[in-house]
Amino acid sequence: MRILLTGAAGFIGTHIGEVARERGHEVVPLDMFLEKAHGPGARPDGYAQLDLRSDVLDEVLDGIDVVCHQAAMVGNGVDAQDLPDYAEHNDAGTARLLAAMARAGVGDLVLASSMVVYGDGRYTCPVDGDVPPAVRQDDDLAAGRYDPRCPVCGGEIAWSQIDEDTPFLPRTSYAASKVAQEHYASAWCTLEGTRAIALRYHNVYGPGMPADTPYAGVAAIFRSAIARGEAPRVFEDGQQVRDFVHVRDVARANVLAIEQVAGHPVGLTPYNVASGRTFTIGQMAETLSAAAGGAPPVLTGDYRRFDVRHVVASPDAARRGLGFEAAIVPQDGLAALATDPLRTR
Ligand code: UD1
Repeated sequence: MRILLTGAAGFIGTHIGEVARERGHEVVPLDMFLEKAHGPGARPDGYAQLDLRSDVLDEVLDGIDVVCHQAAMVGNGVDAQDLPDYAEHNDAGTARLLAAMARAGVGDLVLASSMVVYGDGRYTCPVDGDVPPAVRQDDDLAAGRYDPRCPVCGGEIAWSQIDEDTPFLPRTSYAASKVAQEHYASAWCTLEGTRAIALRYHNVYGPGMPADTPYAGVAAIFRSAIARGEAPRVFEDGQQVRDFVHVRDVARANVLAIEQVAGHPVGLTPYNVASGRTFTIGQMAETLSAAAGGAPPVLTGDYRRFDVRHVVASPDAARRGLGFEAAIVPQDGLAALATDPLRTR
């Protein structure tokens, strides 16, 4: 297949390009080399260097079978001043790409989405049943009560593994932009009678992760701290649960989606992309430190208001719909991350 890969120079895009070529596909790599992510300076050859917000995309879509759209401004969206950038890169950029695909007659899309669309996910309250958790309050967090409360009775609730039908509950500008991307893609499917697969990534890690930046996820932050000879600084009580999925597995999920999107029904089909194994942030920090022979993690008790407490999703739909199952268990992949090279721009 001839694939247009946006964000091809990014952490995940680079791995998708490799796996797609290994499987015999032709990849047309596109990247704008956003300075915040890639730094200033010379750009490698071989990329269509285009900005989805403004450049004409028609030529690059000529003869393309499927678009794999990874280009995005990532991170948490920690500052309200970032809101316009998320909207312009992620949402206006995607809308312009979809319009160009409609003009070029390209009807298959694989979209990078994220577990952040679920926000805090779903919980079970012994009194009120299945509930979305209440937003955590400063008083609770400052008192070291990190688990969210029931939005109805205020009591203790337990997290549940979430599936793709879980309602959207975006908490950050980045999360809002990922929800909007899915909605635009879905509208494009309705208008054009086309197909999209949205892959909702969990916490992706592995070789080539960008080193510590204001937009980096926790695995890159801890890995960079260890490389500097410092201890990983674990927020809250370290018991917050995530699913760490290796970038090579994420790339494989993308290529499976690229190969199978044409066989999917018209409309947008979402899949969680997860390892299916839970891991606390404390365990993750310990695994990395031990593998690197570095200083043991420090529990700081700090918290960030925008953080969600636990997010664990079911990988079942991706197994049924795409035949995708993660091959790298987090215990092994995270130990290897201790020595994996990071991307320093
Ligand atoms: C991360 C990504 C998000 C992505 C999602 C799914 C970032 C910033 N966030 O969200 O873009 O869509 O995975 O792939 O890339 N923590 C520490 N110490 C630190 C930093 C963080 O203990 O120095 C803790 C946080 O309090 C939080 C957890 O680690 O509980 C995860 O944080 P982080 O990786 O920033 O965000 P996610 O919500 O997991």
